[in-house]
Amino acid sequence: MREAQNPHTLPVTAEQVEAARNGEWAIYLASAKPVPRAWFGDIVAKDVLCLASGGGQQGPILAAAGASVTVFDLSDEQLSRDREVAERENLALQTVQDDMTNLSAFSDGTFDLIVHPVANCFIPDAKPLWREAFRVLRPQGALLAGMVNPLLYALADSDEALVLEHLIPYSDYASMSKVERHKHFAEGGALEFGHSLQDLIGGQLDAGLIITGFYEGSFDGRRVSDIIATLFATRAVKP
Ligand SMILES: C[S@@+](CC[C@H](N)C(=O)[O-])C[C@H]1O[C@@H](n2cnc3c(N)ncnc32)[C@H](O)[C@@H]1O
Repeated sequence: MREAQNPHTLPVTAEQVEAARNGEWAIYLASAKPVPRAWFGDIVAKDVLCLASGGGQQGPILAAAGASVTVFDLSDEQLSRDREVAERENLALQTVQDDMTNLSAFSDGTFDLIVHPVANCFIPDAKPLWREAFRVLRPQGALLAGMVNPLLYALADSDEALVLEHLIPYSDYASMSKVERHKHFAEGGALEFGHSLQDLIGGQLDAGLIITGFYEGSFDGRRVSDIIATLFATRAVKP
């Protein structure tokens, strides 16, 4: 994904939280395009899981809008941003630290809504994520998920030449040498994986979800984004 810092990756401000308390809010799962409000329904008092969603963005806004929010992330540093905003703004919000493919902290049918910003590019296989999301949703519950168009990972790393170079599914692990991986980790990089559309869309359907909404977004700062949308989001419902 290799995203440069943008305003939507910073913790939300006091003004945004205050507006959310008054019903004026938006969250972002795939680029700077807000998730359509119609995708949420009434979220007041609903149980919401913000999955791989630390950083103080989606969780605090949904809590201020009246939902009962659990923010789940592998990174305690990211979760601490949510706790900081919650404390600063006097919001009730829980945080849970674990891998997004392991939702064993939650029993079946715990949540009415799951919001999942672009993050499954950090796990080697997206399919277990969809199965776990299905399990912890209540019937009629919805999963709103942002994803990377696999084309982005098929392109050569240089943004200058738009050359298709990598096989999809793509894995940083497979395409980097041991030395490159070491350097990448030393610079604070995370391994990324480019999933096929079969796994991103077909995987949700295979898990039993029904896709009811779709939009594309663009990835700022990449030349390819002038040609084709490089992110997309789906709304999927557990029947
Ligand atoms: C691009 S951020 C998305 C969330 C952020 N609120 C945003 O909107 O930018 C990706 C998140 O996924 C988390 N993450 C990466 N690998 C993970 C894993 N295996 N399990 C759970 N969370 C993970 C990161 O710590 C990060 O908070």
